[in-house]
Amino acid sequence: MRLTVIGTGYLGAVHAACMAAIGHDVLGIDVDIKKIKALTEGRPPFYEPGFDDVLTKALASGCLRFTASLREAAAHGEVHFICVGTPQQAGSQAADMRYVDAVVDGLVPHLPAPCLLVGKSTVPVGTTARLTTRIARLASAGVRAEVAWNPEFLREGFAVEDTLRPDRLVAGVTSPEADETLRRVYAPMLEAGVPYISTDPNTAELVKVAANSFLATKISFINAMAEVCDAAGADVTTLADALGHDTRIGRRFLNAGLGFGGGCLPKDIRAFNARAQELGVGPAVAFLEHVDEINERQRTRTVALTRQMVGGDLTGRRMTVLGATFKPNSDDVRDSPALAVATALHRQGADVRIHDPEGAPNARLAHPELRCGSDLLTACQGAELVLHLTEWVQYRELDPVKLARVVREPVLIDGRNALPLDDWRAAGWTVRALGRPAPSDGTSAAQAGRLLRATIASPAAKPGGGPTAAMAQALPTRTS
Ligand code: UGA
Repeated sequence: MRLTVIGTGYLGAVHAACMAAIGHDVLGIDVDIKKIKALTEGRPPFYEPGFDDVLTKALASGCLRFTASLREAAAHGEVHFICVGTPQQAGSQAADMRYVDAVVDGLVPHLPAPCLLVGKSTVPVGTTARLTTRIARLASAGVRAEVAWNPEFLREGFAVEDTLRPDRLVAGVTSPEADETLRRVYAPMLEAGVPYISTDPNTAELVKVAANSFLATKISFINAMAEVCDAAGADVTTLADALGHDTRIGRRFLNAGLGFGGGCLPKDIRAFNARAQELGVGPAVAFLEHVDEINERQRTRTVALTRQMVGGDLTGRRMTVLGATFKPNSDDVRDSPALAVATALHRQGADVRIHDPEGAPNARLAHPELRCGSDLLTACQGAELVLHLTEWVQYRELDPVKLARVVREPVLIDGRNALPLDDWRAAGWTVRALGRPAPSDGTSAAQAGRLLRATIASPAAKPGGGPTAAMAQALPTRTS
Protein backbone atom coordinates (compact mmCIF):
# COMPACT_ATOMS: atom_id res chain seq x y z
CA MET A 1 0.00 0.00 0.00
CA ARG A 2 1.13 3.58 -0.58
CA LEU A 3 1.58 5.11 2.88
CA THR A 4 2.90 8.40 4.15
CA VAL A 5 4.19 8.95 7.66
CA ILE A 6 4.14 12.60 8.65
CA GLY A 7 6.52 13.53 11.46
CA THR A 8 9.75 11.53 11.72
CA GLY A 9 10.58 11.72 15.41
CA TYR A 10 11.05 8.65 17.65
CA LEU A 11 7.56 7.45 16.69
CA GLY A 12 7.24 8.39 13.02
CA ALA A 13 10.69 7.44 11.77
CA VAL A 14 10.41 3.98 13.31
CA HIS A 15 6.84 3.53 12.06
CA ALA A 16 7.89 4.56 8.52
CA ALA A 17 10.84 2.17 8.39
CA CYS A 18 8.83 -0.71 9.90
CA MET A 19 5.92 -0.19 7.49
CA ALA A 20 8.44 -0.37 4.63
CA ALA A 21 9.94 -3.49 6.22
CA ILE A 22 6.56 -5.25 5.98
CA GLY A 23 6.31 -4.38 2.29
CA HIS A 24 4.50 -1.05 2.00
CA ASP A 25 5.65 1.79 -0.25
CA VAL A 26 6.36 4.51 2.32
CA LEU A 27 7.10 8.22 2.10
CA GLY A 28 8.28 9.88 5.34
CA ILE A 29 7.70 13.61 5.78
CA ASP A 30 9.18 16.14 8.16
CA VAL A 31 9.60 19.92 8.24
CA ASP A 32 13.16 19.44 9.56
CA ILE A 33 15.35 19.30 6.44
CA LYS A 34 18.39 18.08 8.42
CA LYS A 35 16.40 15.13 9.70
CA ILE A 36 15.16 14.29 6.19
CA LYS A 37 18.72 14.40 4.86
CA ALA A 38 20.02 12.16 7.65
CA LEU A 39 17.22 9.62 7.23
CA THR A 40 17.63 9.60 3.44
CA GLU A 41 21.32 8.81 3.94
CA GLY A 42 20.47 6.02 6.38
CA ARG A 43 21.70 7.92 9.44
CA PRO A 44 19.22 7.70 12.34
CA PRO A 45 18.75 11.19 13.84
CA PHE A 46 18.38 9.61 17.31
CA TYR A 47 19.60 6.56 19.18
CA GLU A 48 17.20 3.61 19.08
CA PRO A 49 18.51 0.04 19.24
CA GLY A 50 17.93 -1.86 15.98
CA PHE A 51 16.59 1.16 14.10
CA ASP A 52 19.68 1.74 11.94
CA ASP A 53 19.41 -1.79 10.59
CA VAL A 54 15.72 -1.61 9.71
CA LEU A 55 16.24 1.86 8.18
CA THR A 56 19.18 0.76 6.02
CA LYS A 57 17.33 -2.29 4.74
CA ALA A 58 14.14 -0.33 4.01
CA LEU A 59 16.06 2.33 2.05
CA ALA A 60 17.95 -0.34 0.10
CA SER A 61 14.68 -2.09 -0.81
CA GLY A 62 13.42 1.11 -2.47
CA CYS A 63 10.26 0.98 -0.32
CA LEU A 64 11.19 4.00 1.80
CA ARG A 65 11.85 7.61 0.85
CA PHE A 66 11.75 10.90 2.70
CA THR A 67 10.67 14.40 1.73
CA ALA A 68 9.78 17.72 3.33
CA SER A 69 6.88 18.31 0.93
CA LEU A 70 3.29 17.81 2.09
CA ARG A 71 2.20 18.32 -1.52
CA GLU A 72 4.30 15.30 -2.50
CA ALA A 73 2.81 13.41 0.44
CA ALA A 74 -0.71 14.21 -0.70
CA ALA A 75 0.04 12.81 -4.16
CA HIS A 76 1.66 9.63 -2.79
CA GLY A 77 -0.55 8.29 -0.03
CA GLU A 78 -3.72 6.24 0.11
CA VAL A 79 -3.18 6.24 3.90
CA HIS A 80 -1.51 9.13 5.73
CA PHE A 81 -0.22 8.50 9.25
CA ILE A 82 0.04 11.57 11.48
CA CYS A 83 2.95 11.08 13.89
CA VAL A 84 3.85 14.63 14.97
CA GLY A 85 4.38 15.67 18.58
CA THR A 86 1.68 16.88 20.96
CA PRO A 87 3.80 18.51 23.67
CA GLN A 88 2.47 20.28 26.75
CA GLN A 89 1.26 23.81 25.99
CA ALA A 90 3.37 26.58 27.47
CA GLY A 91 1.57 27.93 30.54
CA SER A 92 -1.05 25.17 30.59
CA GLN A 93 -1.38 21.47 31.31
CA ALA A 94 -3.20 20.82 28.03
CA ALA A 95 -1.70 19.28 24.89
CA ASP A 96 -0.45 21.62 22.20
CA MET A 97 -2.28 20.54 19.05
CA ARG A 98 -0.70 23.04 16.69
CA TYR A 99 1.54 20.48 14.91
CA VAL A 100 -1.34 18.06 14.27
CA ASP A 101 -3.50 20.91 12.99
CA ALA A 102 -0.67 22.20 10.78
CA VAL A 103 -0.32 18.76 9.14
CA VAL A 104 -4.04 18.66 8.35
CA ASP A 105 -4.04 22.25 7.07
CA GLY A 106 -0.96 21.65 4.92
CA LEU A 107 -1.97 18.26 3.54
CA VAL A 108 -5.71 18.21 2.97
CA PRO A 109 -6.05 20.99 0.33
CA HIS A 110 -3.59 19.04 -1.89
CA LEU A 111 -5.31 15.65 -1.64
CA PRO A 112 -6.20 14.55 -5.18
CA ALA A 113 -8.43 11.60 -4.26
CA PRO A 114 -10.27 10.04 -1.33
CA CYS A 115 -7.93 8.65 1.32
CA LEU A 116 -7.62 7.81 5.01
CA LEU A 117 -5.83 10.01 7.55
CA VAL A 118 -4.73 7.95 10.54
CA GLY A 119 -3.65 9.71 13.71
CA LYS A 120 -1.03 7.98 15.86
CA SER A 121 -0.06 10.94 18.05
CA THR A 122 -1.36 11.03 21.64
CA VAL A 123 -4.26 13.49 21.61
CA PRO A 124 -7.15 14.77 23.75
CA VAL A 125 -10.29 12.68 23.37
CA GLY A 126 -12.51 14.23 20.71
CA THR A 127 -9.66 15.04 18.31
CA THR A 128 -10.86 12.77 15.47
CA ALA A 129 -14.28 14.43 15.54
CA ARG A 130 -12.72 17.90 15.60
CA LEU A 131 -10.39 17.11 12.70
CA THR A 132 -13.20 15.58 10.67
CA THR A 133 -15.00 18.94 10.68
CA ARG A 134 -11.78 20.78 9.88
CA ILE A 135 -10.97 18.44 6.97
CA ALA A 136 -14.44 18.78 5.44
CA ARG A 137 -13.78 22.52 5.18
CA LEU A 138 -10.30 22.12 3.67
CA ALA A 139 -10.75 19.28 1.15
CA SER A 140 -11.27 19.95 -2.55
CA ALA A 141 -14.75 19.31 -3.94
CA GLY A 142 -15.40 15.59 -4.37
CA VAL A 143 -12.45 14.49 -2.21
CA ARG A 144 -13.52 12.69 0.94
CA ALA A 145 -10.75 12.29 3.49
CA GLU A 146 -11.78 10.17 6.45
CA VAL A 147 -10.00 10.26 9.81
CA ALA A 148 -9.23 7.29 12.06
CA TRP A 149 -7.22 7.06 15.29
CA ASN A 150 -4.71 4.29 15.76
CA PRO A 151 -2.71 5.10 18.91
CA GLU A 152 0.87 3.95 19.23
CA PHE A 153 2.10 2.14 22.33
CA LEU A 154 5.79 1.76 21.48
CA ARG A 155 8.41 2.30 24.15
CA GLU A 156 11.63 4.12 23.38
CA GLY A 157 14.47 1.62 23.53
CA PHE A 158 12.17 -1.11 22.16
CA ALA A 159 10.55 0.91 19.38
CA VAL A 160 11.34 -1.45 16.48
CA GLU A 161 10.25 -4.55 18.37
CA ASP A 162 7.09 -2.83 19.64
CA THR A 163 6.18 -1.67 16.12
CA LEU A 164 6.78 -4.97 14.37
CA ARG A 165 5.38 -7.11 17.19
CA PRO A 166 2.94 -4.89 19.12
CA ASP A 167 1.04 -6.40 22.04
CA ARG A 168 -2.17 -5.02 20.53
CA LEU A 169 -3.45 -2.78 17.75
CA VAL A 170 -6.26 -0.34 18.43
CA ALA A 171 -8.24 1.16 15.56
CA GLY A 172 -10.73 3.96 16.18
CA VAL A 173 -12.79 4.10 13.00
CA THR A 174 -16.06 5.55 11.76
CA SER A 175 -16.64 3.23 8.78
CA PRO A 176 -16.13 -0.42 7.78
CA GLU A 177 -13.95 0.81 4.88
CA ALA A 178 -11.53 2.55 7.25
CA ASP A 179 -11.40 -0.59 9.38
CA GLU A 180 -10.68 -2.73 6.32
CA THR A 181 -7.90 -0.34 5.21
CA LEU A 182 -6.18 -0.53 8.59
CA ARG A 183 -6.50 -4.32 8.63
CA ARG A 184 -4.72 -4.38 5.24
CA VAL A 185 -1.94 -2.07 6.52
CA TYR A 186 -1.30 -4.35 9.50
CA ALA A 187 -2.01 -7.66 7.72
CA PRO A 188 1.30 -9.36 8.70
CA MET A 189 0.72 -8.49 12.37
CA LEU A 190 -2.85 -9.76 12.26
CA GLU A 191 -1.68 -12.99 10.63
CA ALA A 192 0.85 -13.36 13.46
CA GLY A 193 -2.02 -13.23 15.96
CA VAL A 194 -1.64 -9.67 17.33
CA PRO A 195 -4.97 -8.72 18.98
CA TYR A 196 -6.79 -6.08 16.92
CA ILE A 197 -9.37 -3.96 18.71
CA SER A 198 -11.71 -2.11 16.40
CA THR A 199 -13.68 0.63 18.12
CA ASP A 200 -14.89 4.20 17.80
CA PRO A 201 -12.32 7.06 17.66
CA ASN A 202 -13.15 8.46 21.12
CA THR A 203 -12.47 5.11 22.76
CA ALA A 204 -9.26 4.63 20.75
CA GLU A 205 -7.97 8.07 21.74
CA LEU A 206 -8.80 7.35 25.38
CA VAL A 207 -7.10 3.93 25.37
CA LYS A 208 -3.78 5.64 24.84
CA VAL A 209 -4.04 8.24 27.61
CA ALA A 210 -5.60 5.69 29.95
CA ALA A 211 -2.70 3.28 29.34
CA ASN A 212 -0.05 5.92 30.04
CA SER A 213 -1.99 7.17 33.08
CA PHE A 214 -2.14 3.63 34.46
CA LEU A 215 1.60 3.14 33.98
CA ALA A 216 2.36 6.50 35.60
CA THR A 217 0.06 5.65 38.50
CA LYS A 218 1.76 2.31 39.02
CA ILE A 219 5.17 3.98 39.22
CA SER A 220 3.94 6.69 41.59
CA PHE A 221 2.18 4.09 43.72
CA ILE A 222 5.44 2.26 44.37
CA ASN A 223 7.28 5.55 44.91
CA ALA A 224 4.66 6.53 47.49
CA MET A 225 5.34 3.17 49.16
CA ALA A 226 9.05 4.04 49.06
CA GLU A 227 8.34 7.18 51.07
CA VAL A 228 6.45 5.11 53.64
CA CYS A 229 9.29 2.57 53.67
CA ASP A 230 11.78 5.36 54.39
CA ALA A 231 9.71 6.51 57.36
CA ALA A 232 9.17 2.98 58.66
CA GLY A 233 12.61 1.49 58.00
CA ALA A 234 11.28 -0.99 55.45
CA ASP A 235 12.60 -2.01 52.02
CA VAL A 236 10.55 -1.02 48.97
CA THR A 237 12.35 -3.41 46.60
CA THR A 238 11.35 -6.42 48.70
CA LEU A 239 7.85 -4.95 49.02
CA ALA A 240 7.61 -4.62 45.21
CA ASP A 241 8.87 -8.18 44.68
CA ALA A 242 6.29 -9.51 47.11
CA LEU A 243 3.47 -7.48 45.54
CA GLY A 244 4.57 -8.46 42.05
CA HIS A 245 4.09 -12.18 42.71
CA ASP A 246 0.36 -11.47 42.76
CA THR A 247 -0.40 -11.84 39.06
CA ARG A 248 -3.26 -9.36 39.43
CA ILE A 249 -0.65 -6.72 40.33
CA GLY A 250 2.44 -7.89 38.42
CA ARG A 251 6.05 -6.80 39.02
CA ARG A 252 6.54 -4.65 35.89
CA PHE A 253 6.50 -0.85 36.35
CA LEU A 254 6.89 -1.30 40.10
CA ASN A 255 10.51 -0.17 40.15
CA ALA A 256 10.77 2.49 42.81
CA GLY A 257 13.30 5.26 42.45
CA LEU A 258 13.58 8.63 40.79
CA GLY A 259 10.29 8.25 38.95
CA PHE A 260 9.12 8.74 35.41
CA GLY A 261 10.10 11.30 32.80
CA GLY A 262 10.36 11.51 29.02
CA GLY A 263 8.27 13.04 26.29
CA CYS A 264 5.13 11.01 27.08
CA LEU A 265 4.06 10.00 30.58
CA PRO A 266 4.42 13.40 32.35
CA LYS A 267 2.72 15.48 29.66
CA ASP A 268 0.10 12.83 28.91
CA ILE A 269 -1.26 12.65 32.47
CA ARG A 270 -1.41 16.45 32.61
CA ALA A 271 -3.18 16.71 29.26
CA PHE A 272 -5.65 14.00 30.32
CA ASN A 273 -6.42 15.88 33.50
CA ALA A 274 -6.92 19.12 31.54
CA ARG A 275 -9.21 17.42 29.02
CA ALA A 276 -11.25 15.72 31.76
CA GLN A 277 -11.83 19.15 33.30
CA GLU A 278 -13.06 20.48 29.94
CA LEU A 279 -15.44 17.53 29.78
CA GLY A 280 -16.72 18.33 33.28
CA VAL A 281 -15.28 15.18 34.84
CA GLY A 282 -12.18 16.69 36.44
CA PRO A 283 -12.72 14.90 39.78
CA ALA A 284 -12.66 11.50 38.03
CA VAL A 285 -8.96 11.84 37.23
CA ALA A 286 -7.91 14.39 39.84
CA PHE A 287 -5.77 11.59 41.35
CA LEU A 288 -3.40 12.13 38.43
CA GLU A 289 -2.34 15.40 40.07
CA HIS A 290 -1.15 13.34 43.04
CA VAL A 291 0.57 10.91 40.69
CA ASP A 292 2.42 13.89 39.20
CA GLU A 293 3.26 15.35 42.62
CA ILE A 294 4.59 12.06 43.97
CA ASN A 295 6.69 11.76 40.84
CA GLU A 296 8.15 15.26 41.15
CA ARG A 297 8.81 14.69 44.85
CA GLN A 298 11.23 11.83 44.12
CA ARG A 299 13.48 14.38 42.42
CA THR A 300 13.48 16.73 45.42
CA ARG A 301 13.91 13.78 47.78
CA THR A 302 16.98 12.67 45.85
CA VAL A 303 18.49 16.16 46.02
CA ALA A 304 17.72 16.31 49.76
CA LEU A 305 19.32 12.90 50.34
CA THR A 306 22.41 14.07 48.43
CA ARG A 307 22.65 17.20 50.54
CA GLN A 308 22.25 15.16 53.70
CA MET A 309 24.98 12.74 52.64
CA VAL A 310 27.54 15.51 52.12
CA GLY A 311 26.77 17.14 55.45
CA GLY A 312 24.23 19.77 54.40
CA ASP A 313 26.11 22.06 52.03
CA LEU A 314 26.58 21.25 48.37
CA THR A 315 28.80 24.23 47.55
CA GLY A 316 31.87 23.11 45.62
CA ARG A 317 31.23 19.39 46.26
CA ARG A 318 32.23 17.08 43.40
CA MET A 319 29.28 14.98 42.30
CA THR A 320 29.08 12.49 39.45
CA VAL A 321 25.69 11.72 37.97
CA LEU A 322 25.45 8.42 36.10
CA GLY A 323 22.83 8.81 33.39
CA ALA A 324 21.34 11.83 31.64
CA THR A 325 18.54 10.26 29.60
CA PHE A 326 15.03 9.73 30.95
CA LYS A 327 15.49 5.96 30.63
CA PRO A 328 18.21 3.58 29.42
CA ASN A 329 18.62 2.58 25.74
CA SER A 330 17.56 6.01 24.52
CA ASP A 331 19.30 9.33 23.90
CA ASP A 332 16.12 11.23 24.83
CA VAL A 333 16.60 13.76 27.63
CA ARG A 334 13.11 15.30 27.55
CA ASP A 335 11.92 15.80 31.12
CA SER A 336 14.72 13.54 32.31
CA PRO A 337 14.58 12.96 36.08
CA ALA A 338 18.36 12.46 36.08
CA LEU A 339 18.99 15.83 34.43
CA ALA A 340 16.48 17.52 36.73
CA VAL A 341 18.45 16.30 39.76
CA ALA A 342 21.80 17.19 38.16
CA THR A 343 20.54 20.70 37.39
CA ALA A 344 19.23 21.18 40.93
CA LEU A 345 22.57 20.07 42.42
CA HIS A 346 24.42 22.41 40.05
CA ARG A 347 22.15 25.32 41.02
CA GLN A 348 22.85 24.63 44.68
CA GLY A 349 26.58 25.03 44.07
CA ALA A 350 27.75 21.45 43.50
CA ASP A 351 30.46 20.71 40.95
CA VAL A 352 28.52 18.21 38.83
CA ARG A 353 29.81 15.94 36.10
CA ILE A 354 27.41 13.76 34.18
CA HIS A 355 28.03 10.57 32.27
CA ASP A 356 25.71 9.00 29.74
CA PRO A 357 26.54 6.36 27.11
CA GLU A 358 24.30 7.88 24.42
CA GLY A 359 22.61 10.98 25.79
CA ALA A 360 25.60 13.30 26.41
CA PRO A 361 25.18 15.40 23.20
CA ASN A 362 21.46 15.99 23.84
CA ALA A 363 22.12 16.73 27.52
CA ARG A 364 24.74 19.34 26.57
CA LEU A 365 22.33 20.93 24.10
CA ALA A 366 19.56 21.10 26.70
CA HIS A 367 21.85 22.18 29.54
CA PRO A 368 25.01 23.83 28.24
CA GLU A 369 25.81 24.85 31.83
CA LEU A 370 26.36 21.19 32.82
CA ARG A 371 29.44 19.13 32.10
CA CYS A 372 28.41 15.95 30.39
CA GLY A 373 30.49 13.31 28.63
CA SER A 374 30.58 9.69 27.59
CA ASP A 375 33.80 8.62 29.30
CA LEU A 376 32.86 7.00 32.57
CA LEU A 377 36.21 7.11 34.35
CA THR A 378 36.76 10.78 33.51
CA ALA A 379 33.30 11.60 34.86
CA CYS A 380 33.93 9.70 38.09
CA GLN A 381 37.44 10.92 38.78
CA GLY A 382 37.63 12.73 42.11
CA ALA A 383 33.92 12.38 42.88
CA GLU A 384 32.85 12.75 46.48
CA LEU A 385 29.49 11.20 45.69
CA VAL A 386 28.19 9.18 42.76
CA LEU A 387 24.49 9.28 41.90
CA HIS A 388 23.12 6.44 39.78
CA LEU A 389 20.07 8.06 38.16
CA THR A 390 19.42 6.20 34.86
CA GLU A 391 19.79 2.44 34.93
CA TRP A 392 21.94 1.75 31.86
CA VAL A 393 23.20 -1.84 31.89
CA GLN A 394 26.78 -0.48 31.82
CA TYR A 395 26.31 0.81 35.36
CA ARG A 396 24.99 -2.50 36.61
CA GLU A 397 28.12 -4.12 35.22
CA LEU A 398 30.50 -1.65 36.91
CA ASP A 399 33.12 -3.13 39.20
CA PRO A 400 32.66 -1.21 42.47
CA VAL A 401 36.17 -2.17 43.62
CA LYS A 402 37.75 -0.59 40.55
CA LEU A 403 35.52 2.46 40.70
CA ALA A 404 36.43 3.02 44.34
CA ARG A 405 40.01 3.61 43.16
CA VAL A 406 38.91 6.45 40.88
CA VAL A 407 36.57 8.45 43.11
CA ARG A 408 37.66 10.56 46.07
CA GLU A 409 35.03 9.09 48.39
CA PRO A 410 33.20 5.83 47.68
CA VAL A 411 29.73 7.13 48.40
CA LEU A 412 26.78 6.16 46.21
CA ILE A 413 23.11 7.01 45.87
CA ASP A 414 21.27 4.41 43.80
CA GLY A 415 18.37 6.49 42.50
CA ARG A 416 17.01 3.57 40.46
CA ASN A 417 17.34 0.67 42.91
CA ALA A 418 19.04 -1.23 40.17
CA LEU A 419 22.59 -1.84 41.39
CA PRO A 420 23.72 -4.89 43.39
CA LEU A 421 24.10 -2.88 46.59
CA ASP A 422 25.51 -5.71 48.68
CA ASP A 423 28.46 -5.90 46.27
CA TRP A 424 28.98 -2.14 46.45
CA ARG A 425 28.86 -2.16 50.23
CA ALA A 426 31.23 -5.12 50.33
CA ALA A 427 33.62 -3.07 48.18
CA GLY A 428 33.62 -0.35 50.82
CA TRP A 429 31.00 1.98 49.42
CA THR A 430 28.58 3.88 51.61
CA VAL A 431 25.30 3.36 49.82
CA ARG A 432 21.86 4.94 50.12
CA ALA A 433 18.74 4.44 48.06
CA LEU A 434 15.26 5.91 48.29
CA GLY A 435 12.87 3.51 50.02
CA ARG A 436 15.57 1.28 51.42
CA PRO A 437 16.95 1.35 54.91
CA ALA A 438 20.47 2.62 55.50
CA PRO A 439 22.53 -0.15 57.12
CA SER A 440 22.23 1.41 60.56
CA ASP A 441 18.42 1.34 60.21
CA GLY A 442 18.42 -2.42 59.82
CA THR A 443 20.95 -4.02 57.49
CA SER A 444 19.74 -7.15 55.73
CA ALA A 445 21.37 -10.38 56.77
CA ALA A 446 23.22 -10.59 53.46
CA GLN A 447 24.52 -7.03 53.72
CA ALA A 448 25.53 -7.51 57.32
CA GLY A 449 27.36 -10.69 56.44
CA ARG A 450 29.27 -9.07 53.61
CA LEU A 451 30.12 -5.99 55.63
CA LEU A 452 31.39 -8.20 58.39
CA ARG A 453 33.52 -10.16 55.94
CA ALA A 454 34.93 -6.92 54.51
CA THR A 455 35.67 -5.67 58.02
CA ILE A 456 37.41 -8.88 58.95
CA ALA A 457 39.48 -8.83 55.75
CA SER A 458 40.63 -5.31 56.52
CA PRO A 459 40.67 -4.38 60.21
CA ALA A 460 40.80 -0.65 59.38
CA ALA A 461 37.55 -0.80 57.45
CA LYS A 462 34.53 0.98 58.83
CA PRO A 463 31.19 -0.62 57.94
CA GLY A 464 29.32 1.77 55.72
CA GLY A 465 32.20 4.23 55.94
CA GLY A 466 34.96 5.36 53.58
CA PRO A 467 37.32 3.12 51.62
CA THR A 468 38.92 0.23 53.44
CA ALA A 469 42.58 0.53 54.34
CA ALA A 470 43.44 -2.17 51.83
CA MET A 471 41.59 -0.33 49.14
CA ALA A 472 43.04 3.00 50.12
CA GLN A 473 46.48 1.55 49.47
CA ALA A 474 45.35 0.43 46.05
CA LEU A 475 44.02 3.85 45.11
CA PRO A 476 46.01 5.62 42.41
CA THR A 477 47.28 9.14 43.03
CA ARG A 478 44.28 11.39 42.81
CA THR A 479 44.14 13.84 39.97
CA SER A 480 41.61 16.23 41.45
C1 UGA B 1 5.73 5.25 27.42
C2 UGA B 1 4.81 4.03 27.41
O1 UGA B 1 5.41 3.00 28.18
C3 UGA B 1 4.58 3.54 25.99
O2 UGA B 1 3.67 2.45 25.98
C4 UGA B 1 3.99 4.69 25.17
O3 UGA B 1 3.79 4.32 23.81
C5 UGA B 1 4.95 5.87 25.21
O4 UGA B 1 5.17 6.27 26.58
C6 UGA B 1 4.33 6.99 24.45
O5 UGA B 1 3.31 7.51 24.87
O6 UGA B 1 4.80 7.30 23.35
P1 UGA B 1 8.38 5.59 27.15
O7 UGA B 1 8.10 7.06 27.33
O8 UGA B 1 9.30 5.13 26.06
O9 UGA B 1 6.98 4.82 26.89
O10 UGA B 1 8.97 5.09 28.52
P2 UGA B 1 8.59 4.03 29.65
O11 UGA B 1 9.30 2.77 29.40
O12 UGA B 1 7.13 3.97 29.84
O13 UGA B 1 9.25 4.73 30.91
C7 UGA B 1 8.79 6.02 31.33
C8 UGA B 1 9.52 6.47 32.56
O14 UGA B 1 9.12 5.70 33.68
C9 UGA B 1 11.04 6.37 32.50
O15 UGA B 1 11.58 7.57 33.00
C10 UGA B 1 11.36 5.20 33.40
O16 UGA B 1 12.62 5.32 34.00
C11 UGA B 1 10.24 5.31 34.43
N1 UGA B 1 9.93 4.05 35.12
C12 UGA B 1 9.49 2.97 34.42
C13 UGA B 1 10.05 3.98 36.50
O17 UGA B 1 10.44 4.96 37.17
N2 UGA B 1 9.73 2.80 37.13
C14 UGA B 1 9.29 1.72 36.45
O18 UGA B 1 9.00 0.69 37.09
C15 UGA B 1 9.18 1.81 35.07
